[in-house]
Amino acid sequence: MDKLLINGGNALNGELRISGAKNAALPILAGALLSETPVTIGNIPHLHDITTTMELLGRMGVQLTVDEKMNIEVDSSTIDKYEAPYELVKTMRASILVLGPLLSRFGQAYVSLPGGCAIGTRPVDIHLDSLIKMGADIKVESGYIHATAKKLKGCRLVLDKITVTGTENLLMAATLAEGVTIIENAAKEPEVSDLAYFLNKMGAKISGIGTDILEIEGVEKLGVENLHYDIMPDRIETGTYLVAAAITRGKIKVKDTSPDILDAVLDKLKEAGAKITAGENWIELDMEGRQAKAVSLRTAPYPAFPTDMQAQFTALNSVAEGVGIITETVFENRFMHVQELQRMGANIQLESNTAICTGSEALTAAPMMATDLRASASLVLAALVAEGETLVDRIYHIDRGYVHIEEKLAQLGASIRRIPR
Ligand code: UD1
Repeated sequence: MDKLLINGGNALNGELRISGAKNAALPILAGALLSETPVTIGNIPHLHDITTTMELLGRMGVQLTVDEKMNIEVDSSTIDKYEAPYELVKTMRASILVLGPLLSRFGQAYVSLPGGCAIGTRPVDIHLDSLIKMGADIKVESGYIHATAKKLKGCRLVLDKITVTGTENLLMAATLAEGVTIIENAAKEPEVSDLAYFLNKMGAKISGIGTDILEIEGVEKLGVENLHYDIMPDRIETGTYLVAAAITRGKIKVKDTSPDILDAVLDKLKEAGAKITAGENWIELDMEGRQAKAVSLRTAPYPAFPTDMQAQFTALNSVAEGVGIITETVFENRFMHVQELQRMGANIQLESNTAICTGSEALTAAPMMATDLRASASLVLAALVAEGETLVDRIYHIDRGYVHIEEKLAQLGASIRRIPR
């Protein structure tokens, strides 16, 4: 397994381009299954989860053509299997996103049930119960979801809990259902909106985009000749690099991104003492050489502070001035990075879903083990300021969500290199 070797202490400085959003690319690639004509998707990030999605679609018989700029043409006219097998779903839970489109367009789907996961149990009951309300017949047998439906029927769905991939699955299912579907308590994450805009470009009739009530009028079929759709920028990648600059007391400018989708994160960075300036598609962060001030925050669905940025701010608080209290409300057990940060000397106390971080001037290098995607990013951030050389093991987690992280950080002046297995 590849490892990252990081020598801490360099303040980051320079400019960086942000990649397309992983969490928008995954549902949009699944959404392409709904199109009767080939569709091309651009600004796709070069990530392991994208390769997994391509393999998933490829095994169904979908034709994929990738050009040198990572534009992917998806032609689902050759599909002959409606299955997401266990060996792919176990490596990427987001594979569940093929359930809605397969069922809605082809009337059948056979999808492995996602198992447990490092950041707690992540059930799919809301996806399944809502599809049943839309008329699907669903059986769970031998670890697989068997779903069939002659024709899904629009209805009013009030989601028990805000779920991002759940909203996306139902949105896709509703586009070809008979009549009108209303999804209440829908997730408002920008990636859900990106998927909705993409579906509308293919001929879907979705309104209420960006609000928590989505209304979908079912249509007969989807697909437009020569459709090209570019994925939105990755707000979590953007936020992670901004924290990297803040933690090292540096100054960076991130380009090809969007400040509008990062309000809660930018507010917390300002509270930590960063000077932030932004234009339409760029953000500059300048710490002016200062140590960050610890910040308190509570994760919650968009537009509140994202759970996917929680670990990075825990790392920032570890070397900040004062005490910051971090409360995780979206996922249970999403504090695996805390034990590793403590091994570097971080003073963090865990009390159920709260981490009380008392900042210290410095952390010291120690061997690290990456656990989940965002936890791994926080270890890399901590290593950027730790005294000495840190070896981060099991970085395949990072490769699932960050495009060439070592190249991007090195470009900003970090001392970092990948050690191939
Ligand atoms: C998505 C993101 C992930 C992010 C998360 C929360 C993708 C591919 N992944 O994950 O990066 O951290 O949103 O912003 O977009 N729940 C249920 N029943 C369900 C579905 C969810 O109880 O049927 C619960 C989950 O256990 C969790 C909460 O709802 O506690 C939110 O989960 P959800 O929004 O569904 O997360 P994902 O869509 O898996």
